[in-house]
Amino acid sequence: MKVLVVDDSQLNLAIAKRYLETIPDITQIVLCNDPVKAKKLLDEEGIDILILDIIMPGITGFDIIAALRSDPKYDDLLIIMLTSLEDMDSYQRCFELGVFDYINKPINPIELTARLKVAIEWKNNSNHLKSLINVITKQNEDLKEMNAKLTDAKFSLVQSEKMAAIGQLAAGIAHEINNPMGFVNSNFDVLKKYFVRIIEFINYVNTKFCSNNSFENQSLAECAAEVEAKYKALKLDLIMGELDGIFTDSSAGIQRVTEIVQSLRIYARSSADTDKDTMVLLNLIQQVLLITKNELKFVTNVELDIPEDIILYCNRIQLSQVFVNIILNAAQAIKSQNREDMGTIKISAEAIGTEVRIRFQDDGPGIPEENLSKIFEPFFTTKEIGKGTGLGLSVSYDIIVNKHNGSFGVSSEPGKGATFTVTLPLVTV
Ligand SMILES: Nc1ncnc2c1ncn2[C@@H]1O[C@H](COP(=O)(O)OP(=O)(O)OP(=O)(O)O)[C@@H](O)[C@H]1O
Ligand SMILES: [Mg+2]
Repeated sequence: MKVLVVDDSQLNLAIAKRYLETIPDITQIVLCNDPVKAKKLLDEEGIDILILDIIMPGITGFDIIAALRSDPKYDDLLIIMLTSLEDMDSYQRCFELGVFDYINKPINPIELTARLKVAIEWKNNSNHLKSLINVITKQNEDLKEMNAKLTDAKFSLVQSEKMAAIGQLAAGIAHEINNPMGFVNSNFDVLKKYFVRIIEFINYVNTKFCSNNSFENQSLAECAAEVEAKYKALKLDLIMGELDGIFTDSSAGIQRVTEIVQSLRIYARSSADTDKDTMVLLNLIQQVLLITKNELKFVTNVELDIPEDIILYCNRIQLSQVFVNIILNAAQAIKSQNREDMGTIKISAEAIGTEVRIRFQDDGPGIPEENLSKIFEPFFTTKEIGKGTGLGLSVSYDIIVNKHNGSFGVSSEPGKGATFTVTLPLVTV
């Protein structure tokens, strides 16, 4: 602790020095009998405590205190006045100016030591407090930075969860389109072969009846018999019989692809949170089943019990993301049982007052009691590393509860299955 004593009397300075030297916490004592130089010394020496005489020639202690206290650079400086003043007004003025304490003149060693100890302790505490504040401020900044990073990470994880959902949808859709396109394609190959024969036959008939010489030596009956033989040799009778079926099949396939593309166009629209529209619940669930079909076959049957007149006001992309999550979770849970029989997912809905309650009930392994409260937490997953992010239900919860004013609950009887219940406001028509 560095102490500067400013007093115009050399005697007082010497006495103060002698007593100050007995205080172990003081590491440096600077003496000054010219008050004008006080400020310069404070700057040069990095002083912690200033002991300042009040009545001095030229400049008074009051002036020095006032100047120091108006400069924030000296906020940390502790000032103790050294005074023989006896009027209370002067004390009051000093304290109002921001003095920490006072020492009476003539200097008494007991008083000086006691007051200096208090000042040093106060200074130490204040230094300690400042370093704590610095640490807390730094920690606060670190936390803010970390929070921003976490928000970014959460955003990108939610994005990647969306991407995963889109990936699953894309895989399902690719499969759904692949099937009808497959048979339209092979029908097309067959048609090409048939067409070659039909052209061959037409050319044959053309040559037969349109060229001048070919018809000359034959009766019409002979000619007709020849044409018929050609017709049979090219198996056109069989081909003609098949054509109708090929066209019916192909047009059903093309119709199916058209339907899928149609349902995709709904998903292609933007999905801002505010992008809501009315939607028939049954249609939405059917579209979700269409795109999850690939994941469900060989694993589980789906039973629907949804009235056709239930209409929701919702963001269809977000809601289908929720339904895809719930249905895929159920299918994955059933699949994890490695059972021989197919599972069952029952999807039912009923309007109750101003709400619609949608239930997804599966007959999979169910959810252990201790996990029921955790499954909506981000990153909670019981799936192997790399198989699940544990974000599906937390993103779904956010969509239902925060973005659609609904509620989302679960119940389960371990060993018998799980039931997820989504409640949403109903649109009345
Ligand atoms: N129908 C269900 N039956 C049994 N357990 C379920 C069912 N649905 C969810 N769970 C449990 O809840 C956990 C969390 O589900 P959530 O959808 O949030 O993440 P995930 O499916 O593990 O991962 P992701 O959705 O990223 O693939 C699952 O790991 C599973 O343990
Ligand atoms: Mg999931």
